[in-house]
Amino acid sequence: MSHLVTIWRAAQLVGVARGVLQQQVRDGALLLNDGMVSTDVLLKLYPGAKLEESGLLERVAQIRDEAFGRRVRERMLPSQEVLAQRLFVQSQELADVRRHLERYHALVIALQKSVRESVATHPGDAGWRNLEQRVTQGLAQALATESVGLLEVMDDMLKVMTAQVTVRPSGHEFSVEGRTNLLQSGLHAGLKLNYGCGNGSCGMCKVRVISGEVAKIQQFDYPLSETEKSQGYVLMCCHTAASSELTLEMLEATGPKDIPAQHITSRVRAVTTLAPDTVLLHLQTPRTHRLRFLAGQSVLLGWTMPGRPDVHTTYPVASCPCDDRNLLFFIARNESDALACRLFAGDIKIGTDVTVLGPTGDFVLSGGHRPLVFAACDEGFAPIKSLIEHAFSLDAAPSLSLFWLATRDDGHFYSNQCRAWSQALDQFEYELVTHSEVAVGAHQIALAMRADLFDIDCDFYLAGPPEFIHTLSDELRAAGVAAAQIFAQVP
Ligand code: FES
Repeated sequence: MSHLVTIWRAAQLVGVARGVLQQQVRDGALLLNDGMVSTDVLLKLYPGAKLEESGLLERVAQIRDEAFGRRVRERMLPSQEVLAQRLFVQSQELADVRRHLERYHALVIALQKSVRESVATHPGDAGWRNLEQRVTQGLAQALATESVGLLEVMDDMLKVMTAQVTVRPSGHEFSVEGRTNLLQSGLHAGLKLNYGCGNGSCGMCKVRVISGEVAKIQQFDYPLSETEKSQGYVLMCCHTAASSELTLEMLEATGPKDIPAQHITSRVRAVTTLAPDTVLLHLQTPRTHRLRFLAGQSVLLGWTMPGRPDVHTTYPVASCPCDDRNLLFFIARNESDALACRLFAGDIKIGTDVTVLGPTGDFVLSGGHRPLVFAACDEGFAPIKSLIEHAFSLDAAPSLSLFWLATRDDGHFYSNQCRAWSQALDQFEYELVTHSEVAVGAHQIALAMRADLFDIDCDFYLAGPPEFIHTLSDELRAAGVAAAQIFAQVP
């Protein structure tokens, strides 16, 4: 019997990105049934779908493997209480289905009996005889043992291991795995959630539960009123999903204008030399004061030392908003950048306080469903890295391509990351270009794009010096790309 699942769940079951299925829906290759995917249709499209591809077996094996011990079990599985609650809900559903089936069965048997009596009363009536034959055959077919679909079994197992959350009114979806709270899970899925402290004191992550159950996993100080409690309001940072399916009502940020300015004192966690003239600066915010930002945005970093002039410089954040405590920046040696000079001089080191002011900038993902093409020049890779990681979290683009031009001797100082992405994700490709002249390198990138992508309808995100942006934008426009599909950031 066919089973209906959401696109999000269907992608999990057959082990492909959600964006790939969405593209197939747009192309007409995958037909939806009331917004849902039938497991029969899914199996026809992915006849090779196996339990292994869903990652489910791996997860079960990891949980069973004692070598991973208690820590892995705790990370992979929800708490015992949450598991028990989800199993209870599943059992209730199963009991309901069983009850319905028994009633239908009794009804059909009663009808069969009546039809037989009518046949006995009217032996010459072909209509009654036909009806009796059809009822008997139909009943035999319905009672014949039919093997259970693999996707249905996988879907039931996934319902216990991970919960699915639907957000109203946006319709966004995300999953809750292990013991993570609703806020962390939503951020990991790339949602622009409203929140502040992350520890239950500000109340900014308050949402209303429309359906399903939540479980409190952390104490909180924020005083929810009795009215709010009775209306189903909970704090996302202190609750997890207790039922397999949950619907929440909340407001999400629509763009940079919805993200408030913040002033945070962070601490240097690491300074890593990536190349002679490029370092990776890792800042960590206090646990109770994280930076809420959108991928692609920048912040003003400041360093103060008594007796020395304050230094401030704006840099794009190179990390994903899903990890709002650990902020990464690529900083190049530059005599006209006072903060970079202090960093390369060794004044800013592990444990140093650095202020973070922001975020600023509107170089963020537009939210379309086209394939995404990213082009960076030198440290322009920073906002591009953040955008790519965010796009991976969203899982909505059918494919992602990166073109990275290096004009400095430091070259592609973080190319290992590109290799790791391409090894881990089928839908990601990249090309590294080296040329000391920006315009020539940008032209080479345009040629590479022309060979691969110009006949596809894509969104283009460009980050680098003005010459890089202008050259590449002109080439894209000349090739017929609409201006609305080109997004640019000049560091
Ligand atoms: S983010 Fe402050 S209470 Fe949840």
